Amino acid sequence: MTGDSPAPRVDPATMEHYVETLGAIGQQPGGGIERPVFGPAWVAARQQLAEWMRSVGLEPREDAVGNLFGRLPGTEDSSRTILTGSHVDTVKLGGKFDGALGVLAALAALAALRQRLGRPRRSLEMVALCEEEGSRFAARFWGTRGMLGMIDEGELDHLRDDTGTTIGDAMAAVGLDPALFRSAVRTDLDAFIELHIEQGRILADAGTELGIVDAITGIFSRRILVEGRTDHAGTTPMDLRRDALQGAAEMALAVTHLVEETGRPAVATAGKWQVEPGAWNIVPGRATFWLDIRHPDEATKQRLAAAARETAERIAARRGLTVSFTTLQDVPPKAMDARLKSILVEAVEGHGASHQPMVSGAGHDSQVMAQKVPTAMLFVPSVDGRSHSAAEYTSPEDAARGATVLAAALHQLAY
Ligand code: HGY
Ligand code: MN
Ligand code: MN
Repeated sequence: MTGDSPAPRVDPATMEHYVETLGAIGQQPGGGIERPVFGPAWVAARQQLAEWMRSVGLEPREDAVGNLFGRLPGTEDSSRTILTGSHVDTVKLGGKFDGALGVLAALAALAALRQRLGRPRRSLEMVALCEEEGSRFAARFWGTRGMLGMIDEGELDHLRDDTGTTIGDAMAAVGLDPALFRSAVRTDLDAFIELHIEQGRILADAGTELGIVDAITGIFSRRILVEGRTDHAGTTPMDLRRDALQGAAEMALAVTHLVEETGRPAVATAGKWQVEPGAWNIVPGRATFWLDIRHPDEATKQRLAAAARETAERIAARRGLTVSFTTLQDVPPKAMDARLKSILVEAVEGHGASHQPMVSGAGHDSQVMAQKVPTAMLFVPSVDGRSHSAAEYTSPEDAARGATVLAAALHQLAY
């Protein structure tokens, strides 16, 4: 902010305190954070956020699907809302910043605006979205979809975690009534701004302080089940085996080569595997792996998904295996709102910070929110581009700069 800017600054010490305190919730002994949706650490994190909200004058409110809000009602038109925030859940062994920093920056920005300028003309609201990562259920942006009326009632009973618990039961276990999920729908949202760590190394390598997201990549993820036949690992000749894992491994490598040949920004990962029966001296009869394919161009994403399936089917036929596919996510790439992007650029330049436009290789709630609400994203740098790892790090200075610019953008929109 220039000296006379009415928008307040957020200081690095505030952001560091918030990040370290919230980051301790769900911390694992070997490092990394586990905060799966509707789990104990997720409940504890929201309690901490609600306490902070009260301490800065934002009365916390929870909706029927588990999103947590803090609202600054407008003096002129309190019927509409400008929303900012991100997700509070984490991946397995995740870092302290993914999602959390967007929630904490929203908290700090609203607190600073309220303290410095009082109530806005138009209502401002922060949100800790309940689930983005899909680390417990294939819930695919549960909180955002709940707000947009994009949850299908059948999901409550068919989405299950690895223990077989349904998402509906998990909601009930934390005091939510899954039958009321439709009451989470919002029709008052005029804008959504999400601050997030970049999770890549573009800003860090360029020495740029902030990223303004033009578009978010499309994500296609599917579960692939390969079935063969269990056999004795010692007595069964290689040419007579129907080894499900060998087939699955060949499929994963073939898809990787296919995506590498396509070139940047196409990416693919097979990050989760199940091998059965899982004994060292039994030829695996079943192998399941989860494939994630991404591209910012929808037609290319669909072409890669189709080619991956055809490749897997060819390998299965040659090896005498069967292969079946379950699509888990098919989220289109999404462009951000031009007007909100220009407001972010103005806020960054008013702060005298450097910025650059970019495409997000990570998926975000914003790509779903943008389907119904004007949406924009502000990125802060990730040291060494690391994320989805305990090594994830953003400096307090970079975090505070992001929160200050977020406050300036919200000031332009609501005061
Ligand atoms: O996978 C993603 O890109 C996001 O962090 N869920
Ligand atoms: Mn993530
Ligand atoms: Mn995230």
